[in-house]
Amino acid sequence: MAFNLRGRHFLKLLDFSADEIRYLLQLSRRFKELKMTGVPHRYLEGKNIVLLFEKASTRTRCAFEVAGMDLGMGVTYLDPAGSQMGAKESIEDTARVLGRMYDGIEYRGFAQDIVETLAANAGVPVWNGLTNEFHPTQMLADILTVEENFPDGARGKKLVYMGDARNNVANSLMVICAKLGMRFAACAPADLLPEPALVETCKKIAGETGGEITLSSDVREACSGAHVIYTDVWVSMGEPAELWEKRIKLLQPYRVDKKAMGFAAPDAIFLHCLPAFHDTKTKIGAEIAQKFGITEMEVSNEVFESARSKVFDQAENRMHTIKAVIYATLC
Ligand code: CP
Ligand code: NVA
Repeated sequence: MAFNLRGRHFLKLLDFSADEIRYLLQLSRRFKELKMTGVPHRYLEGKNIVLLFEKASTRTRCAFEVAGMDLGMGVTYLDPAGSQMGAKESIEDTARVLGRMYDGIEYRGFAQDIVETLAANAGVPVWNGLTNEFHPTQMLADILTVEENFPDGARGKKLVYMGDARNNVANSLMVICAKLGMRFAACAPADLLPEPALVETCKKIAGETGGEITLSSDVREACSGAHVIYTDVWVSMGEPAELWEKRIKLLQPYRVDKKAMGFAAPDAIFLHCLPAFHDTKTKIGAEIAQKFGITEMEVSNEVFESARSKVFDQAENRMHTIKAVIYATLC
């Protein structure tokens, strides 16, 4: 069966069918093979894309830049201070201007509404590189990594998300697990479990795909039999720094450590979208250590550095999967 995603936006995974997601994963594997074997793939020569970042990034920005350049395209990066959007020019007008010059627009920033408004006005494909609500390109890299470690496929596998289960990464993981018939377990204190409306949506999807969505505040119960244990930062970009104290108190029992991994399946892997606070080699990590006396946050250094940790494969896969999204929507 042939797929045609040309002209589509990539704003959230709820907009895509399971077959379309699997097609993007298949395309990602092909691009990874081409890259690994040094086969040029400048399929989109003559096209140009713009990357609009209102929040900081290492992986997403670099993945879009390298993917764009590998595909033969021109790439413009606009940093958080580099455009007039929102301050002097509306989102609608910015979209109409960028759409006249570029073949595709990536946006990373705040409300999901912003990326949806860009898409409604740009006239060219818009890709969500992270909003407060969702992080859909991250998910493709995550599932590609899961399937590299479990060649019999993601379907039926249990993925546990520990930590702030209301954030963009947790939301998107719940959606993709539901779409692909995986078993998703959110493991968090009651205040940080996912929003009921999204849980209901995902449960409905899971009901059709053979997946499962569960919520728990008990680490042993949630992690039992897990194939993947996943976590992310306890305070996301755009949230106030004052939240650290509260989140540290709430989330310390939900750190992914050796004990939590011990409840999982013997071949379980650890994933993290990165950046991660697993030691004190960062400014924030060192400040937290000084203020609260902890040297690791959402994941212990032991787990992060262990053979079960696939976080750098996952980071590399951002590039192959983002390349697939760009290609599929522009070719
Ligand atoms: N995982 C991720 O999105 O990383 P960056 O914030 O560095 O882009
Ligand atoms: N939840 C994190 C993800 C970073 C990739 C944030 O939004 O900061």
